[in-house]
Amino acid sequence: MPIDTSVPHIARVYDYWLGGKDNFAADRAVAEQVIATFPDVVAIARAQRAFLGRVVHYLAAEAGVRQFLDIGTGLPAANNTHEVAQRVAPAARVVYVDNDPIVLAHARALLASSPEGATAYIDADVRDTGTIVAEAAKILDLGQPVAIMLLGVLHCIPDEDAPAGIVAELVDAVAPGGYLAIVHPASDVAADKMKQAMGDYNKEAGAAVTARSHAEVSRFFDGVELVEPGLVQIHRWRPGADNAGQVRELAAYGGLGRKP
Ligand SMILES: C[S@@+](CC[C@H](N)C(=O)[O-])C[C@H]1O[C@@H](n2cnc3c(N)ncnc32)[C@H](O)[C@@H]1O
Repeated sequence: MPIDTSVPHIARVYDYWLGGKDNFAADRAVAEQVIATFPDVVAIARAQRAFLGRVVHYLAAEAGVRQFLDIGTGLPAANNTHEVAQRVAPAARVVYVDNDPIVLAHARALLASSPEGATAYIDADVRDTGTIVAEAAKILDLGQPVAIMLLGVLHCIPDEDAPAGIVAELVDAVAPGGYLAIVHPASDVAADKMKQAMGDYNKEAGAAVTARSHAEVSRFFDGVELVEPGLVQIHRWRPGADNAGQVRELAAYGGLGRKP
């Protein structure tokens, strides 16, 4: 798929909010428009990245997970999944999945594995679970626990594409003792501003996004057991030194579940 730089794309807009340089004028324009109505979006993007670091560290250091399937990877940024996991466990194996050609173009930075571990990149849509599972099985042992990560990607899947079914198919494909991590923008925190900001984004972007309520995001965890503290605003999930001073009510939920 060619890269159309005239239409804003979520990976590049998010990169702009994180302070990255892999974005174009159309991405920056809508990113600034959203900041104007909803300045907290920058804090949310950074808190999401911090959540990624805490959840991967927890999985590798405390839960003993050595395999990660990170879907909706985004552009390389500080502390990519394999870097966090391999700092704890050099033999960790990480498969990245994204459908954006610009992420594919930057994938080399995601593939710099430790010699003991492995990384791979799959160019696929999260809806194409069959391809993702078949390709991931070339690198990961699906008979051993795998952590599925869906951070900031399910909101790109509208209800008519049955996101809960996609999540269930992925969870079905991993062994008991595997995990499911999700971050999702909230429709029921700062609801009016979120609605306006998402509306502004959707008017400009090629692919629309959907915020969801706590109850709606909770349903994605059907069939897995939520790890403490459950599904909470991302800055409240096992907070650490990185976000100790965070007091704002961020409109994004994060959680981690374990497949029994
Ligand atoms: C907001 S970024 C999140 C990046 C990263 N997971 C994080 O939390 O920092 C969302 C990513 O999901 C990808 N994405 C969006 N829709 C997708 C789809 N249908 N299939 C695969 N990836 C998708 C985008 O290209 C983008 O890279």
